[in-house]
Amino acid sequence: MAIKELIVFVMCFGIVCAAAEHDFFSSTDQIAQLYGKMKDFLKVFSQCIDAENGETMKSVLLNLLLSYSDYESPEEAVRNPVTAYRLLGQLRNDLIYIVKHIQPNLYQCEEYQDELNAKLQEIPQLEDLDGAASGLIRLQEIYKLYPEDITKETSLNADEAYNVGLVAYDEDKFQYAFLWFLYSLDRLTEYSTTTEEELLHYLISSAYKFGSLHMAIYFSHKFLNLDPSNDEVRVQLNRLLHLQSNPNIFTLNTESSNYETLCRGEVDERTSKRQRALSCRYSTGGGNPRLMYAPVKEEVEWDVPQIIRYHDIISDREIEILKNISRPQLSRSEVYQDGRGTVTKQRLSQSVFLEYDDPMEALVSQRIADATGLSMKKAEPLHVQNYGIGGRYEPHYDALKTVNDRIATFLIYMSDVEIGGATVFPEVGVAVQPKKGSAVFWYNLHKNGKLDLKTKHAGCPVLVGNKWVANKWICEFGQEFRRPCSLSEWE
Ligand SMILES: *[C@@H]1O[C@H](CO)[C@@H](O)[C@H](O)[C@H]1NC(C)=O
Repeated sequence: MAIKELIVFVMCFGIVCAAAEHDFFSSTDQIAQLYGKMKDFLKVFSQCIDAENGETMKSVLLNLLLSYSDYESPEEAVRNPVTAYRLLGQLRNDLIYIVKHIQPNLYQCEEYQDELNAKLQEIPQLEDLDGAASGLIRLQEIYKLYPEDITKETSLNADEAYNVGLVAYDEDKFQYAFLWFLYSLDRLTEYSTTTEEELLHYLISSAYKFGSLHMAIYFSHKFLNLDPSNDEVRVQLNRLLHLQSNPNIFTLNTESSNYETLCRGEVDERTSKRQRALSCRYSTGGGNPRLMYAPVKEEVEWDVPQIIRYHDIISDREIEILKNISRPQLSRSEVYQDGRGTVTKQRLSQSVFLEYDDPMEALVSQRIADATGLSMKKAEPLHVQNYGIGGRYEPHYDALKTVNDRIATFLIYMSDVEIGGATVFPEVGVAVQPKKGSAVFWYNLHKNGKLDLKTKHAGCPVLVGNKWVANKWICEFGQEFRRPCSLSEWE
């Protein structure tokens, strides 16, 4: 499917979602948190079960605990998207197992029952697993990866790979589905729940649907070798052999958008001569007293539209506090379409608008005001965001075409991202890499108040790492004397 270059607007005001839906796949941090809690939880229960009465239960719990000891920290566990996908499945299975077999016998740990019941509200759902699989497929599409490439660090078993294939098949991405079914077939063992017949059935069907008649015929023969009495496949094979018309090959996505090539780092105008002419400087915001002794480090990342990077704008400790405040309040990010906020696949992250009276929000806002010289009086509160498995935000404008529109964006990177996750501007061919503690700033509107079409931007899918950002959307009101308007067509 070709990328829909829809113009989607970010929603200006957050809607607090009900806490019941977690959408774990849309925030790697949420998976990490659940992983951490599960570990604590297993420790507590294996200790409070008295060995004499609950010998087997105790050893089951200790074994489970062992299976959660592969990673030093929860964050380490989810930096790889395939590992995060596996963990989500494991957490789901283990929580279900605990409810069924352990909880009824936990009479010795009564004081922990409430805590346990709270955890059980958080069992990842099948939709979470499908959402995570969909994230993996999107990563494959954008970064051109085979299942073998993306599973280098953590491999999937036949059943897990089969599920990823089914999700791709459902999304009409038949060539990816085919590759995952093939991967699954290679890893089939006597312990797999998936059968060879199921896989061959889907291999035939997906091969046919992405246009490989030859592969469809090949796997039909394989199926008949396995089950010679299957008349349905025999009839189907006959039909394939006599097929005159071409199968549907139009689901193949052969051409990449500018956004995708930028994400892959194949083109970046900034390596050109134009980039070398750009500059770096220490700035006191035109003599701002707060910056006289600690000037901000400004770097011009691009000239038109001007994109400025501020280095070391926020400390690691401040970042940690921001994360701590945000974590309990994160909910699925929405996009603003046809006048209302909706959850869509174009934006895969969780986020929260902080309160204006939060001291950390006030501190960061003041710093942004000092660096940019703009007023924060009518700006939106800081918006903290954590990305999910294959987390991304497809091309969009920040301005909403409203009264008191978002004149400028100040985007703070609260983490490094190992691979992927760049902020790209497809209209100008620029990719900006996240760097922890730094921020980028640009004007969304021209001085005449019109939308600057060159500021369309996107967050590339995160291939390895956890991506955290904080956005400050600065609005028009209050800037009348700080950024004077212009009546010119061109400014
Ligand atoms: C953030 O929360 C963690 C876990 O509760 C805590 O250990 C840490 O000290 C907190 N950090 C800050 C800077 O408040």
